[in-house]
Amino acid sequence: MAESTDYVADFPSEIIREGRVQVLVPNLKAYGVTPSDYAPSKAPVFYNPVMEFNRDLSVLALQAYQHMVGHEVSICEPLTSQGIRGIRYAAEIEEVSNVLLGDISTRACQLAQHNIELNHLETKITLKHSDANRTLCNNASPKKRFDIIDIDPFGTPVPYLDSAFRALKNRGLIAATATDLAPLCGVHAKACLRKYGGKPLRAEYCHELAVRLLCGYMAVTAAKQDIGIQILFSHSSDHYIRVYAQISYGAKKADDNLKSMGYILHCFNCMHREITHQPFGCPTCQECGTKMDYAGPLWTGDIAGAAFVGQIIVENQKAPFRNSAKIAKRLSLIEVEPAMPPAYYVIDKLSGKLNLPAPSNQTFIEALKKAGYHAVATHFNPRGIKTDAPTLTMHKVLRELTSNQQA
Ligand SMILES: C[S@@+](CC[C@H](N)C(=O)[O-])C[C@H]1O[C@@H](n2cnc3c(N)ncnc32)[C@H](O)[C@@H]1O
Ligand SMILES: [Zn+2]
Repeated sequence: MAESTDYVADFPSEIIREGRVQVLVPNLKAYGVTPSDYAPSKAPVFYNPVMEFNRDLSVLALQAYQHMVGHEVSICEPLTSQGIRGIRYAAEIEEVSNVLLGDISTRACQLAQHNIELNHLETKITLKHSDANRTLCNNASPKKRFDIIDIDPFGTPVPYLDSAFRALKNRGLIAATATDLAPLCGVHAKACLRKYGGKPLRAEYCHELAVRLLCGYMAVTAAKQDIGIQILFSHSSDHYIRVYAQISYGAKKADDNLKSMGYILHCFNCMHREITHQPFGCPTCQECGTKMDYAGPLWTGDIAGAAFVGQIIVENQKAPFRNSAKIAKRLSLIEVEPAMPPAYYVIDKLSGKLNLPAPSNQTFIEALKKAGYHAVATHFNPRGIKTDAPTLTMHKVLRELTSNQQA
């Protein structure tokens, strides 16, 4: 990109501070957008202040990855908009060798170039006014590949994942955001099947299914290139989901990944769920005999690793972000989730089904533990729990809690 020393935005703009950087962004008030609205695309260049939480957490996760690999890292963010995310990576993460940013929009690139200069990062950051797939494919030869690629688009990351895997070094990290929750959560099931190759389900744990559908798509896409993936971290927040995966070159690793692809069968009558890796005809619920529905094919393996989440927690303790307390709370939930089976329950949904009053999270979790099962809260839903208790046992525990209250 050309020098932008004389850059003057031809739209209402303001300088904001986030993390350790300052950037010029569209002044959303001029577009009738309040910080809680999700309408940032009304401005000529995309900017969403609500995603500060996502960017803070991304800085921490990328720093945790850099510490894990223990060497300098190169980073590519090919859909950067005004550049805030990539500029923060260059300014805030230790041991970053270089950052390549790109965007297809001329105005976004002009603003991003200005912001790079505003933060005196011209030597560390290069900007390409280019389509994201072109940016990635231009860097797919072995010597040009990146340690980290962040795909942060409007909607689905699917169109960019194939080229992202090509442009990633062995043991590299891919981070992908998906904001198309209507398809992923089953409101537009056909779109989900088209884009992610799996059927969603409008069940109360649809946000976890969304993460698993994206992870599954990533695993299958990587496998085509003889690449395996390990999901280090993922979360569902606000209007989006985000997945961080480390890749490993090798056909065997890709084959092993495919073993984690499967289906979650769901009973809408008693809420029993089960995982299957086998083709199935017309499954009936083993608990109540009702015909079951299903989601998938999707990723049934781990969607976070406790050790990696632990390292993000350590990084967060050092970081003075506006969102640090919120991040700490979220990570403390995510850290214990990998040990639990997939498909969380929502207490109100379960008790509503049985026409019983809903207990508090703590009361229900303690009662399940007393009955001999594991149970933890989940970050996916403030009233959600993950447990290894069978569904009918949960019904029994809920009934007992109510009769104890009435006694
Ligand atoms: C959600 S915004 C990126 C937000 C940014 N990462 C942040 O944290 O603020 C998506 C950006 O992708 C750009 N874009 C859309 N299609 C593209 C394509 N095919 N190649 C490159 N950029 C594209 C848009 O111009 C927009 O700036
Ligand atoms: Zn059932």
